[in-house]
Amino acid sequence: MVILMFYAGQELTVSGKVKSGCDYFSINIGHDVNNIALHFNPRFKYNKDRNVIVCNSNRGGWGSEQKEKVFPFQRDGDFRVVFNFNNDQFYIRLPDGNVFTFPNRFGDDRFSHLHVEGDVKIHSFKVI
Ligand code: GAL
Repeated sequence: MVILMFYAGQELTVSGKVKSGCDYFSINIGHDVNNIALHFNPRFKYNKDRNVIVCNSNRGGWGSEQKEKVFPFQRDGDFRVVFNFNNDQFYIRLPDGNVFTFPNRFGDDRFSHLHVEGDVKIHSFKVI
């Protein structure tokens, strides 16, 4: 878990490596573990999901999921994901350069909490 200050208009880059046995991992941005504005969750294999990115928010329970079919992640492969946001949307740039959005359902213009779950090794977090 990382405490950071991440403001609207800034860019957060997370780079790491997916471990060989990884079935899913998530990068979570919000206020604390129970207040997650963006749960970014690439799933190689999870229940019926195969190679799909699930995004959601959680504040007293999960909201509705958004699924992206582009899946530029590989087990045992490096990745870099770049996040930025305004009080309306998150913009997520994937390792292949594709960008998609997810609504900023909390409408906030700063977040202070980041945590990563799953079988990945994080090389760095950078906010600029
Ligand atoms: C659930 C899963 C959570 C989270 C959520 C997102 O099925 O257990 O970890 O990924 O979906 O909607």
